[in-house]
Amino acid sequence: MSHIYTKADQIDFTLDEISSMPLPTGLLMVEPTFFSIDYVINPHMEGNIGNVDKAKALTEWETIKKHYESFGLNVHPIAGQPGLPDMVFCANQSFPCLSPSGKKEVLMSIMHSPMRKQEVSFIEDWYQKNAYEVHHLDASQVTDFEGMGDAIWINGKRILFGGYGYRSSLSAYDVIREKFDIPVVAFELVTPKFYHLDTCFCSLNEDSVLIYPPAFKPEGVEIIKKLFKHVIEATEFEAEELFACNATCPDGKNVVIQRGCKEVNKQLSDLGFVVHEVETEEFLKSGGSVFCMKMMVW
Ligand code: ARG
Repeated sequence: MSHIYTKADQIDFTLDEISSMPLPTGLLMVEPTFFSIDYVINPHMEGNIGNVDKAKALTEWETIKKHYESFGLNVHPIAGQPGLPDMVFCANQSFPCLSPSGKKEVLMSIMHSPMRKQEVSFIEDWYQKNAYEVHHLDASQVTDFEGMGDAIWINGKRILFGGYGYRSSLSAYDVIREKFDIPVVAFELVTPKFYHLDTCFCSLNEDSVLIYPPAFKPEGVEIIKKLFKHVIEATEFEAEELFACNATCPDGKNVVIQRGCKEVNKQLSDLGFVVHEVETEEFLKSGGSVFCMKMMVW
């Protein structure tokens, strides 16, 4: 069933019919030693060049790391690199996959921005040393693909949701679908402030998601509502200013989210999720928050 679905009337399955996939239990986090804002490649970075409090960024990063450790997840820190100020956003350089037979594989990204291209090989090193089979995209076939910033597993299921339009191309999902033999539901993103799928879509568990509808085309929202029983919708303020949808739910139960997302948090709690509020202010200035500061690995 390795199709690409882009329209609601093509959805001829329910998520119950999709096979399950174990949740990753490990996490990569790139140390924020060299995190800064040196250029503008998304609207959130505008006016923020040179405006990062490094000590505060480190405290924010360490607190998030402690939360993951308290959930029993294995955090693998990776050293940051001088001259690569966005490398800390390690959702973007790769897309790992676990095959049904348990083989660990990863597809490395082709970063959209020239400023970020050199980050990929440093992340690849980790996979090479950790028993992953590493794949690369053919640059003559796919111009850009920013890993799990745009390619998001539905927690517990062997199905991928893929965003395209700003940082990743639709053609990347054709390669992924074929290489990993997985169905992909692809969503065109339509607002520059929500330039990665992880800025407007958060997978919670097998029947719940958190989204910001205006970042999608109407048919995208229709697909999501068709597939999920519970769809939490973030308000403009919480989605845009607090990056509510860049929360992460690594285990289907605990949700780590930027502090202050009152309306979203109430709905998360009502559905039985445990909410952990953290500060990510320094990273918000760069257009990122909790989800994109880590990579889940098996
Ligand atoms: N400044 C980074 C960029 O524009 C932020 C990346 C955030 N990552 C994410 N997956 N949303 O590339």
